[in-house]
Amino acid sequence: MLSSICPTFVALALVAASLAIAAPAAIDPCAKIAGVPFVPTADALACQKSFPFNETLRQNVLTVISRVFDFYTFEDYYLKSPPPFQESTTNIRADIARISRTHYETDFDFNVDVYNFTTKLNDGHTRWFPNCYNSFQNLLPAPVVSLEEDGQQNVFIALDSVELLTLLGSNFTDFFDTIQFDWRRLAGAKVLEIEGMPAYDYIDIVASTVSGNYLPHGPRVNSVFSSYRIDDTNAFSQRIGDLAGPELLTQTALTFRLIPANSTREETVTVPFLANFIGRPFTDKESFWANNCVANDQTNGVDLRVQSNTNPHPTRRQPRAVLKGVAPKNAIGLPAPFLPTLPPVDGSSGVIKSFILPDKKTGVMFFGSFEGDFNEFQTDTLAAISAFQAANVTHLLIDLTNNGGGFVCLGFFLHEFLAGSNFGYPGYQSTCRANPLAQKILSADIAQGIDETMSFYAPDNWAFLNDTPMPDNFNYNSPSAPLVINGHSDPTSQRFHDICTPFAVPMPAAPPFDLRWVIQRTYVFSSIMTITLATRNVAIVSNGDCASICAMFSTLMNERHNTTIAVFGGKPGEPVEFKGMAGNQVLEWTDLDTEIKTAGLKDDPLAPPDLLVSADMRHNWRTAWSFLDESKPIAYVSELPKCERLVMNTSYGILTVHEVQFPYTKDTYNNPQNLWTFA
Ligand SMILES: *[C@@H]1O[C@H](CO)[C@@H](O)[C@H](O)[C@H]1NC(C)=O
Ligand SMILES: *[C@@H]1O[C@H](CO)[C@@H](O)[C@H](O)[C@H]1NC(C)=O
Ligand SMILES: *[C@@H]1O[C@H](CO)[C@@H](O)[C@H](O)[C@H]1NC(C)=O
Ligand SMILES: *[C@@H]1O[C@H](CO)[C@@H](O)[C@H](O)[C@H]1NC(C)=O
Ligand SMILES: *[C@@H]1O[C@H](CO)[C@@H](O)[C@H](O)[C@H]1NC(C)=O
Ligand SMILES: *[C@@H]1O[C@H](CO)[C@@H](O)[C@H](O)[C@H]1NC(C)=O
Ligand SMILES: *[C@@H]1O[C@H](CO)[C@@H](O)[C@H](O)[C@H]1NC(C)=O
Repeated sequence: MLSSICPTFVALALVAASLAIAAPAAIDPCAKIAGVPFVPTADALACQKSFPFNETLRQNVLTVISRVFDFYTFEDYYLKSPPPFQESTTNIRADIARISRTHYETDFDFNVDVYNFTTKLNDGHTRWFPNCYNSFQNLLPAPVVSLEEDGQQNVFIALDSVELLTLLGSNFTDFFDTIQFDWRRLAGAKVLEIEGMPAYDYIDIVASTVSGNYLPHGPRVNSVFSSYRIDDTNAFSQRIGDLAGPELLTQTALTFRLIPANSTREETVTVPFLANFIGRPFTDKESFWANNCVANDQTNGVDLRVQSNTNPHPTRRQPRAVLKGVAPKNAIGLPAPFLPTLPPVDGSSGVIKSFILPDKKTGVMFFGSFEGDFNEFQTDTLAAISAFQAANVTHLLIDLTNNGGGFVCLGFFLHEFLAGSNFGYPGYQSTCRANPLAQKILSADIAQGIDETMSFYAPDNWAFLNDTPMPDNFNYNSPSAPLVINGHSDPTSQRFHDICTPFAVPMPAAPPFDLRWVIQRTYVFSSIMTITLATRNVAIVSNGDCASICAMFSTLMNERHNTTIAVFGGKPGEPVEFKGMAGNQVLEWTDLDTEIKTAGLKDDPLAPPDLLVSADMRHNWRTAWSFLDESKPIAYVSELPKCERLVMNTSYGILTVHEVQFPYTKDTYNNPQNLWTFA
């Protein structure tokens, strides 16, 4: 009997065991979270990690990326990034080779590695954004800030985190209530350690590995913290910061050692992340993949010579230099108590918000970006400055906090408006790489008569250095100009200027605010002894997270006018550069692919294939060369905020230059009006 029962029992046990193994595979981890806006991060990760690694997709992605890097103007600088940008040094081709050899379990793991590699280039113009895995954003109900109090700087959980995160709605807050995690009591807590490290050390790690976007380290430190901004709906907003709002789901919780507000007792708190779905709706694993991960009709470029692709009213395409995907995508408004209470002046409905401070002498223009409506930006600038002049305002304060850039010509417009049209060319000398495919594109465009309405390569986009537009057949890539970077020969295009004129508004011939020394005060000590103090009437403030054309604009104000620039934030003892990342023009993957297809070169052996997945591999396509040293891209010129004062008497003058970096305080980190008043 026993011998006959036992086999049966074993057979049953095997059936049970195989059921036990088969059962979890039958549960669809994506169906489990479908249609829910906020889900536990581990659940969202289970969905994202349910797609196995696929060698075909890896080869496709790496071939595209590698051929995009052929166009990347800063590639060879990475071999040995000059100080203070050493942190970004890497061998891009070796990184790609490593990723092509690495064993990955899942498509997620592969994509995260590519994402991390491009993130750590710290150039927001040159990044891999896989829509499949950017479909959720991780949110921690503990955004952090660095504040000075009684002369001491410390990391705190943002004091307004309850007001701020409540704006995410009950779907967000209910989750924490359900798991009985009281995040509200953490508001204002002093943070001593994060993940077992001194708080500022951990902030530095996030700045080095998660933030990306900015070549200098200081602006990335500020990116880790929560800060005010204007979002892409033109509303005042508060970034949650990279510690509490990273783009990828790589963490499920963060452990803090902190002292709660109103307490003196240290405690250890582990705070869970919650994942916010921001992708395209899905119902299960299959539709998650189809809707978020597979290439769609927006992923790749098009041949603009084909009738159905052409714009019936062709216009010049405006070059852009802007950051993308600065988390969180789901914008959170600036909580009402911290909004400016001053009435805005005319021209404040778009990306620019302008005010007159209570001193009645200072006009403030807060530029959220250089995006939005191209002409409205110009009419709004004119309206605000006209309003300032009508009110006899003498000082202009420009806030560029969290300004991710936009249209190249709007940066040059603002510079020319402030400097007056008599100033001359308001931009930089520019180049793109003259790699063999780039040379073929330009030759093919010229041969086919393709112009600026279809191509950024077309010569009629650009002007010679004397500002004469290039003739339609001028091949600025042949002959190429020699350029050696870190010992590598990297032939480049001939240098050219942008063409931004005519602008949409009448430009003042002379600066509306004197950009030169202006006497602020004279002290008369006796009939022969007077001392005069001169400073500048125009100043810029920001948190250094000023990128792309924003960085180019502030660098122009610094290089051409010595405008006073102050930066807020950073960590104690570390300088923050006022410009985050200054390329001259970014091409999205679709832009580059469109150039190649429109030139008729998609079949060229050097051309990248179409992407099979939904993603963007953008790159910095043009370099802007420093006015002060035309052998250096402005991205690699270190420029710190400065304020000059000139103290003079009749025979003698002393110029003092101060670096101006101020810590945020509890009154300024989320309150633009308080910050402007302080400034
Ligand atoms: C919460 O999420 C549901 C979808 O699950 C949505 O219909 C609802 O509008 C959300 N509620 C709020 C307050 O945002
Ligand atoms: C890998 O991806 C390619 C392209 O989407 C697809 O055709 C192929 O079936 C995938 N391979 C596996 C094993 O899923
Ligand atoms: C990517 O970077 C994040 C943040 O540093 C890290 O947690 C993760 O392990 C990295 N993943 C890979 C595959 O490198
Ligand atoms: C700390 O005390 C102040 C004043 O009583 C109160 O307004 C604030 O809400 C308290 N903070 C927390 C986190 O309990
Ligand atoms: C501006 O100054 C002019 C000339 O001094 C004066 O007439 C005018 O009233 C002032 N306007 C305002 C709004 O103060
Ligand atoms: C100007 O200042 C210098 C330096 O303080 C001083 O030596 C000189 O006497 C002053 N000249 C006049 C005319 O005040
Ligand atoms: C700016 O300041 C530097 C250093 O003091 C000086 O050499 C330069 O001429 C100044 N440029 C302008 C435009 O004022």
